[in-house]
Amino acid sequence: MAVERTLSIIKPDAVAKNVIGEIYARFEKAGLKIIAARMAHLSREQAEGFYAVHKERPFFNDLVGFMTSGPVMIQVLEGEDAIRKNREIMGATNPKEAAAGTLRHDYAESIDANACHGSDAPETAAQEVAYFFADDEICPR
Ligand code: PPS
Repeated sequence: MAVERTLSIIKPDAVAKNVIGEIYARFEKAGLKIIAARMAHLSREQAEGFYAVHKERPFFNDLVGFMTSGPVMIQVLEGEDAIRKNREIMGATNPKEAAAGTLRHDYAESIDANACHGSDAPETAAQEVAYFFADDEICPR
């Protein structure tokens, strides 16, 4: 299995619940390493750029509004099969459909405020990591 990198964001709702450490523990227990991390309060421009692929979707404005409503914790996770593993840890986009024991089941309230983001494929992972982190901010080990 290939070692991959993926971009993870702990969204404003989960940061407000004070569960960053609990979420990091789940990543680490699954064998994922946090190789870059930053807390940020995204600007509208940053959030619109990050979610540009969804700009024609009806929920785009609400998504950008939510992602700029408070600080987020942004990290790069590295490990074998990291993209799939992170998405398994997160659970389904809609928390009502998320399996027990997943982040969205445990911490999310709704599809609009769903606790976390994870890249969905190798190409998007590379783009998303580069969107938030320069090469010299990433510390593989
Ligand atoms: S889709 O339909 O497969 O493109 O959806 P997905 O890629 O899983 O999610 C798109 C992102 O938008 C967020 N979001 C919503 N999706 C669907 N419906 C509603 N109402 C909605 N509101 C927000 C969703 O959480 C995804 O964000 P990320 O950060 O990528 O998880």
